[in-house]
Amino acid sequence: MEIVILDGVDAVDRTAADIVERTVRTTQKSTPVLGLATGSTPVGTYRELARRHRDEGLSFSHCRAFLLDEYIGLARSAEQSYFSFIRENFVDHVDLDDAAVFSPDGEAHDIAAEAQRYDAAIAEAGGIDVQILGIGTDGHIGFNEPGSSLRSRTRVKTLTEQTRTDNARFFDSPDAVPHHVLTQGLATIDEARHLVLIATGESKAEAVAAAVEGPLSAHCPASVIQWHPHVSVLLDDAAASSLALAEYYRYAYANKPRWQHL
Ligand code: F6R
Repeated sequence: MEIVILDGVDAVDRTAADIVERTVRTTQKSTPVLGLATGSTPVGTYRELARRHRDEGLSFSHCRAFLLDEYIGLARSAEQSYFSFIRENFVDHVDLDDAAVFSPDGEAHDIAAEAQRYDAAIAEAGGIDVQILGIGTDGHIGFNEPGSSLRSRTRVKTLTEQTRTDNARFFDSPDAVPHHVLTQGLATIDEARHLVLIATGESKAEAVAAAVEGPLSAHCPASVIQWHPHVSVLLDDAAASSLALAEYYRYAYANKPRWQHL
């Protein structure tokens, strides 16, 4: 696990974009598979990737992408659906084929079957090469809320009131935030080859500290990343402000050998 504390949100966005770009350009697979988080945090990264597409010829035409999660019972056409969100904030601005962008169907009649189908689709695509993750203020990744099994697969979860309140800003009223979601499980996420967790702002500081310095525990689902062999945690100063070993992480990154990528 590499914890990288960067100077401002723009540096976080650029560094996350660098990792995605390297995966897209250098992976040996003919079809690199991107794991895309939604929510506010990665929007700047997606904007930077779209800029590189426009100005520097970075192409996603050979890629596939899988989203982490979706609200249950919200039409895909609703602007708050993650299906719509990722198109508005990323897919519509690059040359990624719309048909190659997959997300759990929160309107499926048989939600349990849809969850199994989604995990199978990820496996069939050869697994996810790089997975972008945000983190909830309660320590969720995907929508794996506290108490989630560390070996969970894609399934239904009930959002905490804290998450519904945090996400109310995207909806007309707090009551409009759905209670249920379909989310990749922690084991599903853990199978991605490279996890890139991004967090910015003070509101994420406690969750970040619990995830990377606390015990591995279902109480903080993001702590599951401590098991993973290739994790980059990209933080601004505010999100890093509760870390006990912040000075060591800064020192290690400043002295990182040039040949060693994130
Ligand atoms: C979204 C997702 C969530 C968000 C998290 C943080 O696909 O999986 O885990 O990453 O809720 O959301 P923001 O970035 O809006 O603070």
